Amino acid sequence: MSSVIYYFSGSGNSLKVAKDIASKLGNTELIKICKENTSEISHKPYTKVGIIFPVYYYGLPVMVKEFVQNLNVCEGCYIYVVATCGGSVGAAIKQTKDILHKKSLTLSSAYTILMPDNYQVMIAPPSIEKQQKLFKLEQEKIEQIIESISKAQTVPFDEINSISAKLLGATLSKAFKPKTKDKNFWTCDNCNGCSICVKVCPSNNIVLENKRPQWLHQCEHCLACMHWCPKQAIQYRKGTLKRDRYHHPEIKVSDMFNDMK
Ligand SMILES: Cc1cc2nc3c(=O)[nH]c(=O)nc-3n(C[C@H](O)[C@H](O)[C@H](O)COP(=O)(O)O)c2cc1C
Ligand code: SF4
Ligand code: SF4
Repeated sequence: MSSVIYYFSGSGNSLKVAKDIASKLGNTELIKICKENTSEISHKPYTKVGIIFPVYYYGLPVMVKEFVQNLNVCEGCYIYVVATCGGSVGAAIKQTKDILHKKSLTLSSAYTILMPDNYQVMIAPPSIEKQQKLFKLEQEKIEQIIESISKAQTVPFDEINSISAKLLGATLSKAFKPKTKDKNFWTCDNCNGCSICVKVCPSNNIVLENKRPQWLHQCEHCLACMHWCPKQAIQYRKGTLKRDRYHHPEIKVSDMFNDMK
């Protein structure tokens, strides 16, 4: 393999983008960013390294931040980033670029793709019609991205120094502390103990006790457990009782499992 994509994904949007890019690029390994590989990742001589993740609170997910800090790549390799988001990328690209810069690595190109917003602890998912529109736009954007990645072009990210990137990066994103947010999860009586929530969790943060999930306060707030539960049994405070769940329709639940388990 000469190319790799490391991806982090809660509801499958970033995984779909990663799969689309990998299949069009060819000869590309896909590796999930999860607890097992955040601190140690075996070094292979990849010439192209992609990092694909969702935007959280206008910044990087904590696990992705740790992953990039520990990233070990070949000198001179082509590094690109794709951030999926529901509306605004904020400081996520800037944060990635800054971490790489501290490691004397260069971010060669960066892109964002609008996808259905999966933050159902606060808002309802977009309508099916709106989702279809976003998926169509994603396909168009992927073509442009492939064009520049395959040629290893340098593509500066225009919004990197925008006021919103600086402001939101310094405020909301820094205040995002996900580890204990799982205290707000609870399960309805229709939980059947299937353990899918355990298998999709990127941080091994869920164990089943008496066939019911217990959260261990090492949460990333990715919402995979909530979105992929087949019984819609996982709730976050009270708001999710009346909201639908979302996951990308072309991603299977087994695609979300951490294959290193
Ligand atoms: C904890 C959390 C925070 C989020 N914050 C933002 C945000 O600041 N800006 C934004 O545009 N979307 C935000 N979103 C929406 C996701 O970035 C978007 O839906 C993304 O495509 C989800 O990708 P995934 O399915 O790969 O996890 C947030 C989602 C979650 C779960
Ligand atoms: S995925 Fe849902 S039904 Fe299955 S164990 Fe977890 S909470 Fe229960
Ligand atoms: S407990 Fe749920 S929200 Fe937290 S990291 Fe695991 S899957 Fe994501």
